[in-house]
Formats: sequence, structure tokens, C-alpha cells
Amino acid sequence: MNANDVRAKFLARMEKSGHQVIAPAVLRLENDPTTLFTGSGMQPLMPYLLGQKHPDGTRLTDSQPCFRSQDIEDVGDNRHTTFFEMLGNWSLGDYFKEFQIRQFFAFLTEDIGLDPSRIYVTCFVGDGAHNIPRDNEAAEIWQKVFKEAGVSAEIAEIGSAEDGDKRGIKPGERIFFYNDKENWWSRAGGIASTPIGDPCGPDSEVFYDYGAEFHDPKFGEPHPASDSGRFVEIGNQVFMQYRRLPDGSFEELQQKNVDFGGGLERLAAAAIDSSDIFKISILQPIISRLEELSHQDYSDHKPEMQIIADHLRASVFLVAQGLTPSNKEHGYVLRRLCRRAILKAQKLGLRDNFFAELVPIVAAIYQSAYPEISQNQAEIIAILSREESQFNKTLTRGLREFEKVATGVLTGAQIFTLHDTYGFPRELSLEVAAERGIKLTENWQEEFDAKVAEQKMRSQTATKGMFKGGLADSSDLTVKYHTAAHLLGAALNQVLKTDAAQKGANITAERLRFDFAANEKLTPEQITEVENLVNGWLEADLPVTHAEYATDYAFDTLHAHGVFRDKYGDKVLVYTIGGDTSQDPVVNTDAKPIISREICGGPHVNHTGEILESGHFKITKEESSSAGVRRIKAVLAK
Ligand code: ALA
Repeated sequence: MNANDVRAKFLARMEKSGHQVIAPAVLRLENDPTTLFTGSGMQPLMPYLLGQKHPDGTRLTDSQPCFRSQDIEDVGDNRHTTFFEMLGNWSLGDYFKEFQIRQFFAFLTEDIGLDPSRIYVTCFVGDGAHNIPRDNEAAEIWQKVFKEAGVSAEIAEIGSAEDGDKRGIKPGERIFFYNDKENWWSRAGGIASTPIGDPCGPDSEVFYDYGAEFHDPKFGEPHPASDSGRFVEIGNQVFMQYRRLPDGSFEELQQKNVDFGGGLERLAAAAIDSSDIFKISILQPIISRLEELSHQDYSDHKPEMQIIADHLRASVFLVAQGLTPSNKEHGYVLRRLCRRAILKAQKLGLRDNFFAELVPIVAAIYQSAYPEISQNQAEIIAILSREESQFNKTLTRGLREFEKVATGVLTGAQIFTLHDTYGFPRELSLEVAAERGIKLTENWQEEFDAKVAEQKMRSQTATKGMFKGGLADSSDLTVKYHTAAHLLGAALNQVLKTDAAQKGANITAERLRFDFAANEKLTPEQITEVENLVNGWLEADLPVTHAEYATDYAFDTLHAHGVFRDKYGDKVLVYTIGGDTSQDPVVNTDAKPIISREICGGPHVNHTGEILESGHFKITKEESSSAGVRRIKAVLAK
């Protein structure tokens, strides 16, 4: 059975039980402040999970192309990719746990032939602090379903994955309770990180057991949520029945939904009993071609070939959907994929025409499922080949510079210049140095980091004068108050349900003063709510990042706040609190919520947790400032 059959069988089963097949959403998201790409099938359906009527009814299904750039570093094993198809089905207040569990189990065992005795499942153990009960219902349904299939299924409580690494599985156990790190689903992970306003709920995950020989003992004892590779997750059923409120608690939704997602690649691998997804019909041809072109065996170069196959396929899909490599946001992610793929290909000896050789393989694989790839093949090759030749030029030039500077010992400052001025990746400097026996200074890493910090300061100074943020000086405490002022603005926006509370700020090393639009005095409850929100963000130790953007782009696309729109020049600095910093500072590629995004000259702390060293946030005064404007004074106090 090939991957196309698995997709077709899933959709056919869903259609038969009254699901409407809906068109998948595009990969590139335009106006979502939290995510750049569609990373799960539910994302386009958020409003309908929250109660809006869907024109196609209450039972929906699709196969959604997904891209998760936050997983880029995980690629290079038998089961992780950045791009994948997610088979999905949804009940919008229609059926609930029992029907869902039964239909997925039937799909696995009847349609794609999985062995029920190798299926293991997990359920949510509950969370007292947030008033979410233990999901006994799902566990009992599973027990019944396994029993009917003639498979014994004891229920066990594991709790955290770490406990599982110590405890392992006892004979007969098949259904496991875990905490919110494993069995709670929201766009941003566990209970405490659930974005405000988002639908969410406990989930029940399904794993396929590839057998003891796939267990890596370095992860401790085997159990489903272990990272050891023996149990591979093949589906997740989210019982979406809650929504997060601004005060951090959860309210029950009026409709109880099911959000199911299962990775096509992993399901197709299970269907052919391969723990390695790169053996399935939609990935294997890429690996074969890489073996041919490089005259090397996959078995000797697994991580490289897995990374190339994934990044190549993802790049092709992104370009087919209209993206081009660039230095900003979506385009930057694409550039990073292309360049990583090229570097790995070069390691295998593939020096030229990498994309021209391999794009046709991807096009052929997806000839029937995604014909737009082969229809646009020439253009896709042209765009990717341009990136390839540009990058090759950069590498050649960088190598020349490397040879000029790396005469004795290579310093962190030199590695920084090669990277910053010549685009020669830091990793390559390290690699070439190792190959040629060139030594690095002992503290090269600190030297490199110091240069990064210096550059950051320079870019702040360059944009100063544009908006000084009402700062009296740039002492350590003033900087902390400055970041706290951004958080206060975000908290006021949430509590007052507006988008533009701020009217002005004045900040010293002793306190902050903040003017905001409101006609009424804040109630004592509102003041407490604002303080709690700010202190919660301090405790969450959120990253504070910044980057420069064209002014219109900052306002209209990033939706950054700024008090003086017409006073800014062509370019502005944007400070973001929250989100993800694994890549470009303001490229928020995962689903961590952004708390605040302001046009501002800085400076700010790097992490909100630093502010806590000076105390918690406390409002000392709330008074009228002028008509329609109120003024808050606040301090950091131990
Ligand atoms: N939305 C769920 C997931 O992505 C199904 O795992």
C-alpha cells in the first residue's frame, strides 16, 4: 500500500460517514500574528471550532499540507520532517469521543492493516489547578475498543514523560495517562502556554510500536511518550471543548468538538511496517535519486539524505505556492531550507544543479495529488536554481575571505565578520577550520556573541532619536521599566479590550508613568488583573527581540503599535515580546503567542525574567491625566 492509497482510504472512510472533504488551506499565512505557516489542519478552522457555522456542515475532512519550521533541527532522523501532510477530520459540535476513537481505530486496523496489539494510546491525566478533569471517558472507550479487538489493555498512570523514562511499561498495559505536556493540545503546547482566546482541550494520542530493537536505551525505559524512536505517534485526537480566557482560566465551549490530525507520512510508514518514513512512496524516490547522484548509500548517510529530502520537498511546495527566497519572514525560512539542503548536498559531493536534478523527482511523486508542481516545474526550478547559484557565489567568496583571515588562529570576531559581511555561515567557518586543522581561540564563542551584541547596540543607536520612548537614561533599571511599560500597554489592551491604549510614557530608574486612553477609572479588580497579567509575563521569561522594517510593513503587516505613525521615517525598529526567537528575531515561526509588538527605539531587556530581579510589577497610582486619558504610576517592588 502506498502513501496515495493511505490518503485516499482515509478520505473515503470519512466521506462514507458523512464528512465533507474541504479544500486545504494555503501553507503561507498572511495575517496571523503568531504563525507564518499552516502547521496543523485545525488552524484554518479556528472560528468554526469556536462556534461559527461552517458552510459545509459539522463533519469535515481533508489532507492539509503543513509546514513546521520550529521542527527544523529535529529533521535528520527516521520520523521528523518540516513539511508533511496532515490527514484531518473534525466534528464541529457533532460526534464526540466514542465515535472518533472507533472510526480512527477502524481506519488503522481495517483500512491500512495495522496490528491492534502494536497500538498504544495516551490520555490526559487532568489538571487540578485549571479545573480540568482526568479523561477517564476516553480511557474507558479505548479499553472497550481494544477488548472487542481481542487485545488486553490495562490502564496505567505515568504523569510526566520523565517519570515514564524511569517507570516504563508493565505487562498488559496499553493505555497511559500523561500530563498536559503530552496530552493537552493548543496551538502553543501545554496548558499554561495556551493562547488567550484559543480553542483547546485534552487529547488522546495513538502510537505504533516498532518493537524493542528500535528503543534507544539512552532515553531510559520505553513508554509511548519517550523520544526513543520505538513508539511513533501516528495520530492525535483533540477533544476541543475549552477556550482560554484572558484571566488564564478555561471556559467550556458551547459545542464539543473533535480535532483529529494524523501525519500521512507516518501512517503510510506504519502501513508498510517501516519505522523509517523515508521508505514510503512519496519520499523514497528522492532518497534513491540522491544515492544515484552521489554514488553513496542511504544507510551510510541517513541524516544528510533525510535533511536534504525534507528540505527539498518543503522548498518545492513553498515555491509552488508562490514564495521566493528572501531575507524576511516566509522568504527567509525558505532561504534557510534551501541553503541547508545545498550545504548537505555538497557534503555528499553534489556540487552543481542540485535543484534542477531533484525538483523533477518531487514533481513526479506528486503528479496526481498536487499536479500544480509539475505544471509549474520550470518556474520552480528557475527560482530555486537562482538561489542555489547565489548561495554558491556567497560560499566561494566567503571561502576566499576565510583563507585571507584564517592565517593563524581563528577568532570569534573573524567568524562574525565572515558571517555578517560575507554571508559565510558560522557553521561553515567551524567546519572548514576543523578540516584544515586551523585552531580557534579558546573563547571564540564569547567573542562572537560580543560582536553580535555590539551590532545590536549599533542598530539601536542608529534608530534612536526616532522615538525615545520617554526614557530618562539607559541605566539597567530604566531599561527594565521600559520593557515593563510595553507589558503594561499589552495588559491594558487586554483588560480594556482595545488595541491602542497607550498615549505616552515617561520612564526613570525609579518608576514608570504611563498614559492611556480611558474614560473611566480602572476598578480595583482591573488593576489587579493588569498586575497579574504583567507579573505572569515576567515569570514566563518571554524573549524580547527586535528588527528593522519598512514603516508601512511594520504597521500594516506586523500590526505593530506606534504612537506617532506620521512622525516615523521610512524604516522603524520593531520590538516583540513573546513569540519564537529560534530564527530571525521577529520571524515568529512557531505558535508561541506574541504579547507585545511595538515600534520603539529601545533599549530593552533580552528576557522579561530579568525584570524580576528588581521585583514584581506593582501599580502605585491610577489617576486622571486629561480628558479621556488616565495615568498609571508603577514600580518594581520586592
Ligand atoms: N491539531 C492536532 C495536532 O496538530 C490534531 O496534533
